[in-house]
Amino acid sequence: MDKRLLEKIKRLKDKRKAVILAHNYQPGEIQDLADFCGDSLGLSIKAAETDAKVIVFCGVQFMAETAAILSPEKTVLLPDKFAGCPLADMITAEQLRQLKQKNPNALVVSYVNSSAEVKAESDYCCTSANAVEVVSSLPTDRPVIFVPDQHLGRFAAEKTGRDLVLWPGYCTTHIVITVEDIKNAKAKYPDAIVMAHPECTEPVKKLSDQILSTGQMLKFTKTSDAKQFIIATEIGMIHALKKQNPQAEFIAASDRAICPNMKKITLDKIIGSLQDLQYKVMVSEEIRTKAKKAIDRMVEILPH
Ligand code: 13P
Repeated sequence: MDKRLLEKIKRLKDKRKAVILAHNYQPGEIQDLADFCGDSLGLSIKAAETDAKVIVFCGVQFMAETAAILSPEKTVLLPDKFAGCPLADMITAEQLRQLKQKNPNALVVSYVNSSAEVKAESDYCCTSANAVEVVSSLPTDRPVIFVPDQHLGRFAAEKTGRDLVLWPGYCTTHIVITVEDIKNAKAKYPDAIVMAHPECTEPVKKLSDQILSTGQMLKFTKTSDAKQFIIATEIGMIHALKKQNPQAEFIAASDRAICPNMKKITLDKIIGSLQDLQYKVMVSEEIRTKAKKAIDRMVEILPH
């Protein structure tokens, strides 16, 4: 990695009293320079805890937005303003309001991969690490709407035995991982443990040994005796896993599982972000307070 660029980032970070947070799907060099690297849940908690004045969020829009919801007094920056999340864009607040009208007595759980406006229309937020716990905490005499990811929703429904009202959203990166990818990888590495993210399709999950969020994958491999793992999620995860456990072998289930939005963040853009305080992630106070209630309810239920 370019040492001069790194030193420049360090100087700017000190000047701005900034902290750099990176998701596990970020390019390896960005994971390496970040002050904290983690899953969606871990990053939102870190964002709330830090006493830094500025948060440079190396991830996608909804993640930076969640940090801004939790930390209104901090400046939250997304180094590339076009780093969005197609899954989060698959439901609007208006569409959710219509779904609520059709299911008037329902409680709404929104996956953290959603806009602040959608969270503001929700009773609970959840991440892939705690969707099952959040759903199972809800009263059984109320219907539950789960948006926007149908695959995580089905996983939570199966694990809790609850019938959820689902929305047909999906992650454009996880659905490229196919049954053939898993079968081929298993044939090549018969002793490997297959770990799939809950955003994968149901047939892919059925062929997997473990269904885990990115943070849970890190936890699981830390204590597992296995030496080979097939990873069915975005390929940035391989860097995070290898770094923690250099002795083990991590095989990407599919080389096509690349999130183009996560990869929009570069070292140059981080420098630009720190120099010019761009791009500020703003959430109106009205939306923020409503969305924060849904996130706070999730945090109360947690195992994290
Ligand atoms: P995690 O919460 O498991 O890090 O997943 C984030 C995500 O956006 C998956 O597509």
